[in-house]
Amino acid sequence: MVMLFPSPATAALLVLVVVLLQLQLWSAEAQVAVGSGPPAGCPSPDRCGNVSVPFPFGIRAGCSLAGFDLTCDTTTNPPRLMIGNGTLQVVSISLADATVRALDLAGAVNITYDGNVSGNGTWRSLGATVGGPFVVADLRNQLVVTGCNIQVTLMGDRANGITGCSSFCSINDRWTSFVANVSGNASCSGIGCCKTPIPIGRTSYLVDYKTLESSHEHDNKLPNVVRVAEQGWFDGAVAADLLDNSKRDKSPLTPVPVVLDWVVAFTLETALFSAQTGQFADDGNWSCPTAGSGRKTACLSTFSVCRNITGNYRLGYVCQCDKGYDGNPYVTDGCQDIDECEQAEEHGCFGECTNTRGAFLCRCPRGARGNATIPNGCTKSNLGLTIGVGIGSGAALFILALGAVFLTRKIKQRRARTLRQKFFKQNRGHLLQQLVSQKADIAERMIIPLAELEKATNNFDESRELGGGGHGTVYKGILSDLHVVAIKKSNVTVQREIDEFINETEVPLLVYEFISNGTLYHHLHVEGPTSLPWEDRLRIATETARSLAYLHSAVSFPIIHRDIKSHNILLDGSLTTKVSDFGASRCIPAEQNGVTTAIQGTLGYLDPMYYYTGCLTEKSDIYSFGVVLMELLTRKKPHSYRSAEDESFVSHFTTLHAQGNLADILDAQVMEERKKEVNEVAVLAVACVKLKAEERPTMRQVEMTLESIRSSSLQQEVLHSVSTKNSKELHVSWSHAISEGTSLDSTRQYSLEEENLLSSRYPQ
Ligand SMILES: *[C@@H]1O[C@H](CO)[C@@H](O)[C@H](O)[C@H]1NC(C)=O
Ligand SMILES: *[C@@H]1O[C@H](CO)[C@@H](O)[C@H](O)[C@H]1NC(C)=O
Ligand SMILES: *[C@@H]1O[C@H](CO)[C@@H](O)[C@H](O)[C@H]1NC(C)=O
Ligand SMILES: *[C@@H]1O[C@H](CO)[C@@H](O)[C@H](O)[C@H]1NC(C)=O
Ligand SMILES: *[C@@H]1O[C@H](CO)[C@@H](O)[C@H](O)[C@H]1NC(C)=O
Ligand SMILES: *[C@@H]1O[C@H](CO)[C@@H](O)[C@H](O)[C@H]1NC(C)=O
Ligand SMILES: *[C@@H]1O[C@H](CO)[C@@H](O)[C@H](O)[C@H]1NC(C)=O
Ligand SMILES: *[C@@H]1O[C@H](CO)[C@@H](O)[C@H](O)[C@H]1NC(C)=O
Ligand SMILES: *[C@@H]1O[C@H](CO)[C@@H](O)[C@H](O)[C@H]1NC(C)=O
Ligand SMILES: *[C@@H]1O[C@H](CO)[C@@H](O)[C@H](O)[C@H]1NC(C)=O
Repeated sequence: MVMLFPSPATAALLVLVVVLLQLQLWSAEAQVAVGSGPPAGCPSPDRCGNVSVPFPFGIRAGCSLAGFDLTCDTTTNPPRLMIGNGTLQVVSISLADATVRALDLAGAVNITYDGNVSGNGTWRSLGATVGGPFVVADLRNQLVVTGCNIQVTLMGDRANGITGCSSFCSINDRWTSFVANVSGNASCSGIGCCKTPIPIGRTSYLVDYKTLESSHEHDNKLPNVVRVAEQGWFDGAVAADLLDNSKRDKSPLTPVPVVLDWVVAFTLETALFSAQTGQFADDGNWSCPTAGSGRKTACLSTFSVCRNITGNYRLGYVCQCDKGYDGNPYVTDGCQDIDECEQAEEHGCFGECTNTRGAFLCRCPRGARGNATIPNGCTKSNLGLTIGVGIGSGAALFILALGAVFLTRKIKQRRARTLRQKFFKQNRGHLLQQLVSQKADIAERMIIPLAELEKATNNFDESRELGGGGHGTVYKGILSDLHVVAIKKSNVTVQREIDEFINETEVPLLVYEFISNGTLYHHLHVEGPTSLPWEDRLRIATETARSLAYLHSAVSFPIIHRDIKSHNILLDGSLTTKVSDFGASRCIPAEQNGVTTAIQGTLGYLDPMYYYTGCLTEKSDIYSFGVVLMELLTRKKPHSYRSAEDESFVSHFTTLHAQGNLADILDAQVMEERKKEVNEVAVLAVACVKLKAEERPTMRQVEMTLESIRSSSLQQEVLHSVSTKNSKELHVSWSHAISEGTSLDSTRQYSLEEENLLSSRYPQ
């Protein structure tokens, strides 16, 4: 087909006529309106052979947008999908690229030679679809020319040059041979062949052909063929084959692949040209419809966008799925999320891929680090190893720590055992053994394991507290043999006492028989006229004296109670006396007559000599006992009593006794009951509280005196049984506990406290 345009204006007019003709033609056919998806019954995608035909394309009537109707030629096997009535067979359709790949069955451009040096032709493979949505895709196609010494120019409708190239055959001067044999090499470098990209996409091209060799001697040495072909097609084997002169006859008929662009709402720029005004009138109907424009968009799917396509020849727009989505933007919900992770590496993920809506996450796998977006970018970090090593060494450390704790505990236990033994020795354990040597069965019970004491007191529970004694807290406990005991736990938080203990780690526990009936103090100092009968008072005094005498003399080292007072004389259910609170008791080595110690005792009972000199002897106990005797006689409280002359209790008693006015202070009840004995006891009491210690009687003498007073009293009275205690009534046990956590002060002197752990009620 030959077209001749005398002037650009005429050419435009002609094209316009053609376009209008085509538009009329299409409008006659049933087409889907822009803005509606494929009608019901239209398969989308449809198929022709193995080619998928998605909307806006269609092969059935009324199933495509205008211009996108394709023909499925089922007369061949496999069926061929054709564009319009032309020579282009569609190989594949891409919605994403808005391209169609087609085979140009015409092969080469039909050149009409003028019989001399030139010729012309037209590439019009799109045939009747001129003005339709398709154009040759910019830059994705090439002009490919084979031949000897020819020049080919590609032109637009107005004979405007677009591109061109020349092919030479390097003919020598003798014209005997030429070099055009490029077989075996894919290049098309200008020898026997030339190619060049086509920068402007059009529906048709004019081709101008010129022979550059005036002799025309080599006009047909090679087949002169002009093709419009997809980039990269004319290479290698294809080129070799098509340059083969022996195949020159069928060479121009070889189908050539061509890539076509398409747009929706297409408009040829020429269509906008007004011949009357000589201007382009852009109504914008070709562009992406905007809200309020009154036009419907072809981009029906969510997650899709519209893109204006403005070429040199044709206008329109295309729809694209959003990034990360794939599918058909021209149908409702056509764009679907891409699971990039199905082909993670193709999406540039070489690590751990996680798909998200419209995107994906790419990370190095657990235990590796680096850049997962590059191949082998992830390197196994030694994090896993670190964790492993961490766990390993953690476990090792744990075991070590356990071992350390275990060892420490062992060492502590050992040290505690050693200390206990030392203590046992230091605290005159042999004394204890001596005391109970005749009663072997008791000896075992003298020492009660700490665990049993803890059990007995419910771990020294507050609810078991009976009260705070002078040197610690007293708990009520029930031993496993159901003996109710009072357990005295030294209060180490009292600094003074801490100082007096051998070391801070040792907490002595004193276990007493639980004395249910209270102290002498409580029994004596009652409201009302009558208190303890004189009988009992005398007995209690005797029993107390007996206990103390035993402590002072019955053993190899004298033990000084140091805190004799009515509070510390306990009475059990039958008012039997138990001397208690040996917390301050002091054992004096035999060769020593007195030991200088910190003053301990209770005001009112305290030996003033001991108080002033700090020198402790058994006589201090005797003084205190003398005060107790006075207390029994008078039912006055020694620590709080003040006479009218502001004299102390002892001083006042002594004065009255000297004056013979003892009746002034004596308990009326006692006066009533035993006048004679009362006087004897008063004499004894005054002797006990002599200021000079050496003038005081010994405890044994006191005991004897009291015994004799009592026996004479008993002779007069109905026999009053004095309970004789058997071994089972040895109520006192001792133990000491190790209080862990404080440091051992080994530099401390063994001193006053060495007998702290001993307590009372020794067998009689
Ligand atoms: C269609 O089939 C032909 C041969 O029958 C093949 O060459 C071509 O690659 C196929 N196209 C697709 C898209 O499968
Ligand atoms: C296609 O060819 C048929 C006849 O084969 C003709 O009737 C029809 O008009 C042609 N259509 C176009 C668009 O050229
Ligand atoms: C080429 O043009 C000639 C004459 O115009 C015509 O006879 C021939 O069929 C054409 N060939 C093709 C492939 O169009
Ligand atoms: C094309 O070829 C024809 C016939 O040879 C000639 O009349 C015409 O001028 C040529 N057109 C161009 C643009 O060269
Ligand atoms: C071919 O062209 C040359 C010069 O361009 C001219 O002299 C000659 O007459 C032409 N031959 C024909 C057959 O037109
Ligand atoms: C091209 O050269 C090869 C050897 O290099 C030869 O076999 C082949 O026949 C040649 N082809 C032509 C068309 O001369
Ligand atoms: C083909 O040509 C290239 C240069 O374009 C050259 O490097 C290569 O060696 C050639 N191959 C053969 C087989 O001749
Ligand atoms: C452009 O679109 C508007 C609104 O749809 C319409 O009225 C107008 O005729 C269209 N223009 C052309 C040239 O089709
Ligand atoms: C498309 O082009 C029209 C006209 O130039 C313009 O108004 C519109 O904003 C463009 N749309 C996009 C999405 O670029
Ligand atoms: C990972 O590699 C890519 C490509 O080399 C680079 O663009 C990107 O910035 C890198 N990312 C990181 C986190 O280094």
